[in-house]
Amino acid sequence: MTEQDRKKWNSKYLNNIGSLDPSKIIEKYIFLASCGNALDIACGNGRNSIFLAQKGFQVDAIDISTIAANHLTGKNPKLNMICQDIDTWQIPQNRYQVIINIRFMDRRLFPMIQAGLKPGGVLIFESFIDGKKEYCLEPNELLHAFESLHIVYYEEREAEHSDKFDQSVYLVAIKRC
Ligand SMILES: C[S@@+](CC[C@H](N)C(=O)[O-])C[C@H]1O[C@@H](n2cnc3c(N)ncnc32)[C@H](O)[C@@H]1O
Repeated sequence: MTEQDRKKWNSKYLNNIGSLDPSKIIEKYIFLASCGNALDIACGNGRNSIFLAQKGFQVDAIDISTIAANHLTGKNPKLNMICQDIDTWQIPQNRYQVIINIRFMDRRLFPMIQAGLKPGGVLIFESFIDGKKEYCLEPNELLHAFESLHIVYYEEREAEHSDKFDQSVYLVAIKRC
């Protein structure tokens, strides 16, 4: 499955690396995070990693796609590109001032994301809800998964960027001190 994922995303990025505009929710809520270490889970073309690096964060950016990784490597000295299957990677504990997870979903990561945040660290999550797809979230699932954090913002609404999924879901939360 993993090799299939890599091939799928490589051929997508070969065809079109995509827009480098950062996600709006990151632009809007990054002010909540103190500058320091950031983790971008499934960073893709690195649009959000580059934005964070330009804001002064030291960014670990992980993605399975070698095309995405080659595109991003060397773009900014504050970027550490990790080209790896996230399923084989452990999020370091108590390390990050901000963790972003944009348009990607892996339930196995939820406890690791919480442990990876420093107290006061910020989680910014954007993904999709679709009851018919196992790799998508259920309504309110994200809210419950991160209920031990202080939830700053949560919204489920009609998907803006996709005709494939029912809804987009957004969560911004802070790890309690
Ligand atoms: C929809 S894209 C989102 C990219 C980026 N977060 C953004 O918002 O632009 C999903 C990304 O997940 C990556 N991905 C898929 N499976 C992965 C895995 N097992 N480990 C790491 N990255 C993975 C893909 O290569 C792709 O770049």
